[in-house]
Amino acid sequence: MGVVVKGLGASLPEKILTNQDLEKMVDTSDEWITTRTGIKTRRISKKDEPSSKFAIEAGRMAIEDAGMKPSDIDVVIVATVTPDMMFPSTGCIVASELGMGETPAFDISAGCSGFLYAMNIADSFIRAGKYSTALVMGVEELSKITDWTDRSTCVLFGDGAGAAVLTRSEEEGILSIEIRSDGSKGELLYMPAGGSRMPASEYTVKNRLHYVKMNGREVFKYAVTKMPAISKEALEKAGVSVDQVDLFIPHQANQRITESTGERLGIDPSRVFSNIAKYGNTSAASIPIAWWEAYKEGKIKEGDIILLAAFGAGFTWGAAVVKWRRK
Ligand code: ACO
Repeated sequence: MGVVVKGLGASLPEKILTNQDLEKMVDTSDEWITTRTGIKTRRISKKDEPSSKFAIEAGRMAIEDAGMKPSDIDVVIVATVTPDMMFPSTGCIVASELGMGETPAFDISAGCSGFLYAMNIADSFIRAGKYSTALVMGVEELSKITDWTDRSTCVLFGDGAGAAVLTRSEEEGILSIEIRSDGSKGELLYMPAGGSRMPASEYTVKNRLHYVKMNGREVFKYAVTKMPAISKEALEKAGVSVDQVDLFIPHQANQRITESTGERLGIDPSRVFSNIAKYGNTSAASIPIAWWEAYKEGKIKEGDIILLAAFGAGFTWGAAVVKWRRK
């Protein structure tokens, strides 16, 4: 018995925000953003478009792509740090809007590694025999928690959603998943207010504490060491060598992080997927969006070995090795 990824989907807001637009908003330049991050444009949701809007679209696409119906899904897991509301979960909203009746649904919070965390839960549920088929999603609207006066963060983020259907199979598709965390580094990348530690108040709003705060240099340093290290562990667990990896799809945080991780792993740049120029960092949504895009562009063939890796708030990080089996 194995677990395969049977369908993929993604949904992005229509509105495009360019580096030139940002030049008019904060003291930055297209040249700085491009050379430091590789980002050219990002998608930004409208005020009346909550995360669930894109999650529902991506979920519907993934189910169709799998050749299934919403009633075939046994559990919905949504990874997000920007849910529609603190509660109810975005998972419940998605399940209800897709007409899934009383299917169990919930959210998890693991920053940019959220999709790999969610995949790990779904994979374990299926292997344990608890459920047969799971809808796993990463959805994010970081634009809604971005301080648009802070040039060190506002140039980085974008909105969107990606989804995958995982199902039981006689073949083995998910060869390994490894996840880790280090909560002692939490305040290097966090949103200080709005939870039980610092509930919303006039003070928190005045002091802009409902926005992402990040020590970019530290995050960068950890990301470029943890992502290659955990990728090597996941490859070893899967019994796969670096040379056998057909496509490496890292979390799209920064083109320099992607290139450094690929180099440290010894993967040729032609086998490293990047779409950060178009979408920026979409946190938990970035891996499923990139995976879907690589698949649509014909960059993944039956039997290919795909390596996924992420690093994000928590700190959290993880990697997965997947054999692409659609037949
Ligand atoms: N435009 C122009 N100058 C800028 C900008 C900007 N947008 N932002 C910062 N600068 C300046 C800084 O003020 C600094 O100036 P100084 O030297 O005069 O002080 C200089 O550029 C260099 O700043 P650094 O922060 O050292 O720049 P760095 O090369 O580290 O790049 C960046 C910054 C892009 C944020 C990088 O550190 C990075 O990508 N970090 C990782 C971010 C990440 O992966 N986050 C994931 C989190 S998402 C989640 O989990 C929700």
